[in-house]
Amino acid sequence: MFVDEDNITDLAVQRWATAHSPRLAELMTGLVRHLHEFAREVRLTEDEWMAAIEWLTAVGRISDDKRQEFILTSDVLGLSMLVVQLNNQSSAGATPATVLGPFHIDGSPAAPYGFDMSDGIPGTPLFITGKVTDLDGTPLAHAVLDAWQADADGTYESQLPTIDEARLRAKYRTREDGTYCIRTIAPRGYAIPMDGPVGDLIRKTDISYFRPAHVHFLIDEPAYQKLITHLFQEDSEYLDSDVVFGTKDALIVRFTERPAGVAPDGTTLEVPYLHAEYDFVLQPA
Ligand code: BEZ
Ligand code: FE
Repeated sequence: MFVDEDNITDLAVQRWATAHSPRLAELMTGLVRHLHEFAREVRLTEDEWMAAIEWLTAVGRISDDKRQEFILTSDVLGLSMLVVQLNNQSSAGATPATVLGPFHIDGSPAAPYGFDMSDGIPGTPLFITGKVTDLDGTPLAHAVLDAWQADADGTYESQLPTIDEARLRAKYRTREDGTYCIRTIAPRGYAIPMDGPVGDLIRKTDISYFRPAHVHFLIDEPAYQKLITHLFQEDSEYLDSDVVFGTKDALIVRFTERPAGVAPDGTTLEVPYLHAEYDFVLQPA
């Protein structure tokens, strides 16, 4: 049978329905139907489709093992957050999930209670303390909190050219009573990377390209749903306009100002610091 504008979608769907795995067949036939529908709806021109292909090529070219422009693309389109919502329907009381983002690095070093993951990087000292519990409030001993953040200029380790030590990232472990203590510096709101194809596209719009101040966490305990989330600083700029749609009320935390003196880890600080308290609540797998 020959192709025309009316039958092309059915023909392509039939072809992709032959995928060997039923799930792949479902994914590919759905993708074909929606892509074709999109092209019909906007009456896609050949020049526009070629421009889109060139843009996607640029997204691929600029990506490497440190930079992930495809994740950024998915984030700014709201697709990452939609996928998070579809897959992490949290029970009442559980800590909600949010986007992973493009800057997580595997294999952060293990850090003891109170370890300073900012290690000399300039900024206001920040302590984050609390517990990791299950939905009933039972504390989880030895749970690992993989934490990472940008520095006070909004730069993540993977954006720096050569660095051979973990910078503003570490894996903390809860104590027997489920408590943890992180020492770091206060994060700031920052611009997502704007020097690539995502930035080129965003500059053609009125979209604010900033994220509110936050620290990232990943907690992956056996028998519990993996939790990828952030804590956002209360009153931070851009909470209402996060370019990747990642903010949630339940993740906004007060960073309380404390005078110099004994810090939450028992050490004495000679300068004022900030203290955020938050209990992470995991739900069963
Ligand atoms: C981040 O928070 O690290 C991030 C998330 C999505 C896009 C850019 C950055
Ligand atoms: Fe971030």
